[in-house]
Amino acid sequence: MALHNKNPNFLPLFFATLLVFASAEVFFEERFEDGWESRWVKSDWKKDDNMAGEWNYTAGKWNGDDNDKGIQTSEDYRFYAISAEFPPVNNKGKTLVFQFSVKHEQKLDCGGGYMKLLSGDIDQKKFGGETPYSIMFGPDICGYSTKKVHAILTYNGTNHLIKKEVPCETDQLTHVYTFILHPDATYSILIDNVEKQTGSLYNDWDLLPPKKIKDPEAKKPEDWDDKEYIPDPEDKKPEGYDDIPKEIPDPDAKKPEDWDDEEDGEWTPSTIPNPEYKGPWKPKKIKNSNYKGKWKAPMIDNPDFKDDPDLYVFPNLKYVGIELWQVKSGTMFDNILVADDVEYAKKLAEETWGKHKDAEKAAFEEAEKKREEESKDDPVDSDVEEDDDSDATEGTESDSDVKSDAESEEDAHDEL
Ligand SMILES: *[C@@H]1O[C@H](CO)[C@@H](O)[C@H](O)[C@H]1NC(C)=O
Ligand SMILES: *[C@@H]1O[C@H](CO)[C@@H](O)[C@H](O)[C@H]1NC(C)=O
Repeated sequence: MALHNKNPNFLPLFFATLLVFASAEVFFEERFEDGWESRWVKSDWKKDDNMAGEWNYTAGKWNGDDNDKGIQTSEDYRFYAISAEFPPVNNKGKTLVFQFSVKHEQKLDCGGGYMKLLSGDIDQKKFGGETPYSIMFGPDICGYSTKKVHAILTYNGTNHLIKKEVPCETDQLTHVYTFILHPDATYSILIDNVEKQTGSLYNDWDLLPPKKIKDPEAKKPEDWDDKEYIPDPEDKKPEGYDDIPKEIPDPDAKKPEDWDDEEDGEWTPSTIPNPEYKGPWKPKKIKNSNYKGKWKAPMIDNPDFKDDPDLYVFPNLKYVGIELWQVKSGTMFDNILVADDVEYAKKLAEETWGKHKDAEKAAFEEAEKKREEESKDDPVDSDVEEDDDSDATEGTESDSDVKSDAESEEDAHDEL
């Protein structure tokens, strides 16, 4: 039996393995199987304006498994808000993993594919764009300029955007987005189980005032020599330099044959720039041996900085939510996870997205081929499609206005 094993290394290893598994905790997991509707609350947000979009429970137009369904936005020019509650989570001393898969079947040109984690007590029926959240994470696309992964953290009531650029996927296939937050205040962002960004909360967000600042009292010393090059004191103006004329008579100019000195006056040739003329004399420049480099104020401890060892802590996480504006619908969410275990999240991604991605790609390519053939067979149809496209483009323009309004709202919100 195992416990009678003579190998002294075996026993600690055995218990260590047990511990690893015992410590893995899943706070929330949603694979959108039967019964999902009892866990999710559709918000009434924007309903009165007829701007609340319907979700479609579907495996999508192309997929790697017909039975693997998720929820998909199904109406254009709509707001979407839906959320699910889980028992309160405090991530103090723990790793926090937030992961989900998202697919934009519609060739998204302006819209979000991100999710939120919310804290405290929220009226889920009223969940919307103004509801305070703790973490917002996932892809956002609008036109050519915005194609990024948002990672917004709320600290002390203020939303802070990540300062690093993290490009998102832009194709029409499923991708898994993972945000990992460690108790040492480091983080990682993964797409399809590949790390795309990593670093520290201290450096990549402005959650706290900076630790060090330039000394505001410091002044450049009077004798600080910051000229890298100086005129060569040895260099002398060559003799006769100033006598070189700027212009000379054109040697090719000829007096016209019918020139009459008496009537036309004395003939003078036109002038051309003198190739010998080099402008006013300047001594050549040499390296300054007293050069001390550019002066920089010394860095000092920032008196306004106060460390917060709980910088990474969200003491009362309680909901996952999706809150989006979509110009063109077709964004599909699945396999949502909130847990404390990176390995568990990796495995979940492999077993879902990883297992089906090749079949999904093949199904997508098949669907594209069929679409192209249909538009070839039926030129009238293809005209209609072109019209559709131009409509969509117009729509995007007007809606990117709406979007930028929403974004500036968000920015304004950030500054609160
Ligand atoms: C839901 O998605 C399926 C698969 O793409 C589609 O056939 C169906 O029309 C959609 N339903 C709605 C209401 O959009
Ligand atoms: C938190 O916010 C309050 C009010 O805005 C502010 O006075 C305080 O300095 C902030 N604390 C930290 C640690 O940022």
